[in-house]
Amino acid sequence: MSSSTALAGRRVVVSAGPTFEDIDPVRFIGNRSSGKMGFALAAAAAQRGADVVLIAGPVALPTPAGVRRVDVRSAAQMHDAVLATLPADIYVGAAAVADYTPIQVAPGKIKKHEGYLTLELVRTRDILAEVAAHALRPSLVVGFAAETENVEGYARGKLERKKLDLIAANRVGVEGSGFESDGNTLTVFWAGGQRALGPAPKTELAEQLLDLIAERLA
Ligand code: CTP
Repeated sequence: MSSSTALAGRRVVVSAGPTFEDIDPVRFIGNRSSGKMGFALAAAAAQRGADVVLIAGPVALPTPAGVRRVDVRSAAQMHDAVLATLPADIYVGAAAVADYTPIQVAPGKIKKHEGYLTLELVRTRDILAEVAAHALRPSLVVGFAAETENVEGYARGKLERKKLDLIAANRVGVEGSGFESDGNTLTVFWAGGQRALGPAPKTELAEQLLDLIAERLA
C-alpha cells in the first residue's frame, strides 16, 4: 500500500499546542508552543483520508479542513479529552503538555506582598505514556521530544520508558527551528532505526512524518 493511501479510513488522534495551568483567575503557567506542528499533522492526515480528531490546547490557529477539533486548556482536560477518543489507530502526542500544575487554583486574584511567593506544583499525568499502556492502545503511538542537548540519548530514553513506537525529536534553542517557528528539523527514532527529516517547513515535515508513520504501520 502506498504511503499516500495507507492512512485512508484510519482513526488518527493528534494533540497539539501548549496547556495552561491556572494559578488564580488571572494568571497561569504555560509554555512556548505554537501548535503549528500538530495542526499541520492533523491537516495532512485528513488530506490523506484519515478520520482525524485534534485535541487542541489554547492556540489561535484555524481548524484544518475535515478535522474534528476539541479545545482544551489544562493538562488534565487534555488528558481526559485524549483518553476519551480511544480506540484509535494512531496517536500523535505533539502537544507541549505542562509537566507541573498548581496544587490548587486560588479562588481570588493573589495579591502581591514583600518577599517571595511560593507556588506548590504537582506533576501532571503523562498522557502519552497512558495512551501507550492503555488496554485500547493504538497500533502506533508517536511522541515528540524537545531537547537542548544529547538529543538521541534523551529521545531514545523516552521511546523506551513510555513504550512508544516512534519519537520525533528536535533540538530546541536553535535559530529557525522548534517553538513558534514555521520550520524545523526532526530526527525520528524507533527501535532499531532512525530518520532525519528536514530542515523544512512544518507543513512539509508533517507530510514526511506521515510517510514514516504509514511505513511503520505497514
Ligand atoms: N507528554 C504527555 N503528557 C505529559 C507530558 C508530556 O503526553 N504530561 C508528551 C508530549 O506530548 C510529548 C512527550 O510526552 O509527546 C514529551 O515527553 P516529556 O518526557 O514530557 O518531554 P520533556 O517535558 O521534554 O521531558 P524532560 O523534562 O524529561 O526533558
